[in-house]
Amino acid sequence: MNEIKFYNGENIPLELHKVRIVQKLHLVPIERRLEALQEGGFNTFRLNTKDVFLDMLTDSGTNAMSDNQLAAMMQADDAYAGSQSFFRLQKAVEDVLGKKYYLPVHQGRAAENILSNAYVRKGNLVPMNYHFTTAMAHITQYGGKIAELLYDEAYVINSSHPFKGNMNIEKLEEVIKVHGAKNIPFIRMEASTNLIGGQPFSVQNLRDVRAIADKYNIRIVLDASLLGENAYLVIQREEEFKDSTMGEVMKIMTGLADIVYFSARKLSSSRGGGICTDNADIYKELEALVPLFEGFLTYGGISVREIEAMAVGLYETLDETMISQSPDFIAYLVNALDGHGVPVVKPAGVLGVHVDAMQVCEHIPQKEYPAGALAAALFLISGIRGMERGSISNQRDEYGNETYADMELVRLALPRRVFTLSQIKYVEDRMTWLYENRALIGGLRFVYEPPVLRFFMGGLEPVSDWPQKLIAKFKEDFGESL
Ligand code: F0G
Repeated sequence: MNEIKFYNGENIPLELHKVRIVQKLHLVPIERRLEALQEGGFNTFRLNTKDVFLDMLTDSGTNAMSDNQLAAMMQADDAYAGSQSFFRLQKAVEDVLGKKYYLPVHQGRAAENILSNAYVRKGNLVPMNYHFTTAMAHITQYGGKIAELLYDEAYVINSSHPFKGNMNIEKLEEVIKVHGAKNIPFIRMEASTNLIGGQPFSVQNLRDVRAIADKYNIRIVLDASLLGENAYLVIQREEEFKDSTMGEVMKIMTGLADIVYFSARKLSSSRGGGICTDNADIYKELEALVPLFEGFLTYGGISVREIEAMAVGLYETLDETMISQSPDFIAYLVNALDGHGVPVVKPAGVLGVHVDAMQVCEHIPQKEYPAGALAAALFLISGIRGMERGSISNQRDEYGNETYADMELVRLALPRRVFTLSQIKYVEDRMTWLYENRALIGGLRFVYEPPVLRFFMGGLEPVSDWPQKLIAKFKEDFGESL
């Protein structure tokens, strides 16, 4: 790691980039923030960014692009078929991810749609380290079910386990024996397991999954959307790889999978996505679905400019100082909040800081969505937009019953190279204030619940006048401050 020591002994993540394009932000008054919440159904997905101060909803499509990415966009080759831009991207995929065949898709979930369409049949089971919302929605859409096979430690909030994203190998073999290998179209491994707090798996764990997959002749599909960050944490935490480069670790991981797919909105700080493989048969099986769902095979629904940015962005994931910025800032904020007693997922992972709403809002029952309530309350008192990653983000079961999430988290995303340290200190300050005033936060209930992926556009309302009470306390403590 590129650690730069401070003479005064403070542990500060120092940026190894400079900011050359900026976007003005506004912090609107708390009364306006309440109106914005009311207009957006107390759902942070439905806020308008004109009301948002620090947008920590996601890193998806919001990482800062580099000068070289922007420059590359200017040399895009507009062509429906055979664009030079595509061939540059194809080469980047081969150089960075080590796979010969590449199919472009417009974003990560499009890859999930194609893979589910090709391989998932009614009654199938897909074992995975943990689900991601869109991956699960596509698998169930095609009649499949999922089995989440983590070790118990993965669900422990205050943990020091370096690899909470590891797949439970014993359970994997058990599931295969019970359901039969022929009913398992693939095993899905997600790099830096998103919904349990951006937690990585180890290379050794992936090797163990590979051994089982080989024994039962089942394919491994790797969701590589957060592969760079997973590789960075492998270098930090897995003894065998402490002297390895990003490129080496990433290729070892992709080399253990039969199919690799990704959201380029995350992986390469661009837009777009892709599926890649070394297996010509798999390529042939999937090839026809790209023109059907996405677009011609040399653009797959991605603009050629983004294709250029994606190619450059992929090479940039090999730069440890680029990848490390977000995880190092996350570790800084996790340590700071932890120091103030705010319950956060530990160890610090990637993508964002994950606050444990189950503990912060222990007075709010899961049926009143503690994580949704905490995300709304944080926006109200700070203009910081986080994302609910709890029961609202869960889908109902096949009988229409509510299923409660294993964890009720509020995710505060730190897209790559977007926020400054003083902004992070503001997050620390407001989150700590909210924690100390947590008794004032109340629950939410649905007033509009869409049937699929309800968390995106669902509308909720507070179960009492708790937002007004929170505003009164805010005014008492902060006076006229925004
Ligand atoms: N896989 C993982 C691990 C993801 O985190 C995402 C998206 C997807 C697949 C789907 O990709 O959005 O390009 O269609 N995660 C975003 C997030 C939405 O906010 O965590 P997509």
